[in-house]
Amino acid sequence: MSFKVRKLGSALGAEVIGLDLTQTLDEDTIAALLAAWSEHLILLFRDQSLTPARQIAFSRYFGELDDHAAIPKFRHAEHPEILMVNNREAATNKRLSVGRQWHSDLSTTLRPAKGSLLHAIQLPMVGGDTMFCNMYRAWDGLSPLLQEWLSGRDAIHDMTIARETQLQRTHAELEEIRLRNPRVYQPICRIHEATGKKALYVSEMTTSQIDGLTREESQPILEYLYRQSTVHENVYRHVWRKGDSVLWDNRCVMHIALADYDDSERRTMHRTTLKGSPSGRLVQAA
Ligand code: SIN
Repeated sequence: MSFKVRKLGSALGAEVIGLDLTQTLDEDTIAALLAAWSEHLILLFRDQSLTPARQIAFSRYFGELDDHAAIPKFRHAEHPEILMVNNREAATNKRLSVGRQWHSDLSTTLRPAKGSLLHAIQLPMVGGDTMFCNMYRAWDGLSPLLQEWLSGRDAIHDMTIARETQLQRTHAELEEIRLRNPRVYQPICRIHEATGKKALYVSEMTTSQIDGLTREESQPILEYLYRQSTVHENVYRHVWRKGDSVLWDNRCVMHIALADYDDSERRTMHRTTLKGSPSGRLVQAA
């Protein structure tokens, strides 16, 4: 099966044209897709009609799938490999906001996600965009002295510091999340195991502190790193169409779901999450 690749942004992103993701792919096509993914970091497939089972089958070409045990509340009832990324809670119809700060999926676990594939089922009339930034470029843009200081250092990732978690969860729910997701150290400079390239690996949604510094000391440095990662020229903004599927590489990309739409409308997305290699270590309670 052959396909074309069209660049979407100068920092990252490409559209794959001519592939039907409901078809079985041969080895050459998979190898070509992996090469395109490595080069462009995010791949867009338009006009796809993916049932949960088909999305799972396609995602498996890229690796083993996570069952979202870290976030059980949002799992699909019959397919735990599908995470429901909705702006309404299924059981209560309560409004939800998810992913509204820059982050890399599952960085708060000891097996952070390798990649994620998000499929658009239902969209608001306008907006509901997602932005992505290239964390190789974020690292490369730092001065050699700062790179040297950050190399070999770790930062703490904590699921409970996410703004939306703080705002939307009760005290008891926060305690439960904390128990299920103990804080972890992750390297600030992450070496991508497939490309060997260095990527900055901190995010405003989950990184609370640099190891060895206090939270107060860490904050200005982390804020500088977030700002520098997300400068306009390092970002691709995706304007969704129904049937779009976007695959991104969490090892070298951060993303953010924008609140740029009328929240009385529905936004329904299905995400599959690829398991990454083991990374990080638990923070021992003081
Ligand atoms: C996510 O954070 O994985 C979802 C992003 C989105 O809903 O656009």
